[in-house]
Formats: sequence, C-alpha cells, structure tokens
Amino acid sequence: MNAILLQIDGRAIEATEGMSILEAAQSADIHIPTLCHHEKLEPYGGCRLCTVEAEVRGGTKLVAACLYPVEKDLIVRTRSPKVDRLRKLILELLLVHAPHSTQLRKLAEEYGARADRFETETSFCVLCGLCERYCAEVKKKNAVVLINNGARREVCFVPEIASKECASCKECFQLCPTSYVQAMFVLSQSLANE
Ligand code: SF4
Ligand code: FES
Repeated sequence: MNAILLQIDGRAIEATEGMSILEAAQSADIHIPTLCHHEKLEPYGGCRLCTVEAEVRGGTKLVAACLYPVEKDLIVRTRSPKVDRLRKLILELLLVHAPHSTQLRKLAEEYGARADRFETETSFCVLCGLCERYCAEVKKKNAVVLINNGARREVCFVPEIASKECASCKECFQLCPTSYVQAMFVLSQSLANE
C-alpha cells in the first residue's frame, strides 16, 4: 500500500491509499462527527454529517469524509463556517424526526442547532440504516430491514427471522442513535405474542 501525505486541520497526516478522509482523521485522533458510519460496515454516505471541506488542485469542495478517498496533497478542514452551517442544518432536519435523541441533542448543542427550527414530525427513526446494514453485513441475518421509499420509508423486523434470531442478539440496539430499533423490537414482540 502506498503512503499518501495530506493535511487535515493544518496537520501533516500520513495515510494509506484507499483510506477515506474519515479513516485518515481517526488515525490521527482528529474527530469528525458521524451518524450513519460504522467501522465494520461498508461506507454508506447517508447522513452527510461527516461533511468536511476538501481543497484539491486549487478548488474547494464539500465532501462526505466517510466516502471520500485520501489523495496526495489534499487539504482538509474538518471545521469551517460552511461545514458548521451545513452540520447545523442537517441536525435541525434530523431533530424533526427524533427530537429526543440524546446523541442528536448533544451534537445539536455543539453546532448551535435548534430542535424547534422546523415543525416536528416525530417518527423516532432517522433512517441511518445502521440496524439494517449491521444485521445484513455483519450478522448476515437480514432480520431488520428498511421498507418503502420516500416519506413512507421505515424500519421493520421480518417476523419469521426476528423471532428466531433477535432475542439472543440485539447487537443493533446499541448502534441506533435514537433507540427506535429497541422500541420497534419490543412492539413487534408484543404483536407476535397477541
Ligand atoms: S431504527 Fe435506529 S439504527 Fe435503524 S435506521 Fe432508524 S435510526 Fe437508524
Ligand atoms: S457518516 Fe458520513 S455520510 Fe453519514
């Protein structure tokens, strides 16, 4: 693997070819907030909370750090007025669905995001897909899936699989940023027992 030198927040960082900006930053203990990323899962790029400013060949663009590969001489800024404004807006939009999420509220405080900027439409799930992807990619079970598209998109348990697999696993519970997957599981269990 070839070594790649880049700059993150003014620090020279040595990364390896194929790493994402997020991985390079983490290897140097530089924090970039994430919501839909998990190191055991394929990059997803759903939430865009990890957006950073990347300067390459004289041009600056906003990129998702969890997806964007490191390049020689790339200059990355993990915080800037533009980055912070975007993260604030993303958080305000996520809070529409999960205003009580401790993880979101903590981030909202850091970025000055308001939970009441937009009208609340509490669905509790922010569709980060962590539960579904973890169950499929790591556990290879597909017991929890995202169904429908657009405004009707939602998480649900597949009863035939969940009834056999989930009670002894529950590993996705701790990944969920809103605790919705736990609530859904309890609900699906009580419906199955009716
Ligand atoms: S239930 Fe939780 S982990 Fe699953 S998609 Fe929704 S917010 Fe993400
Ligand atoms: S953490 Fe990168 S897009 Fe969600």
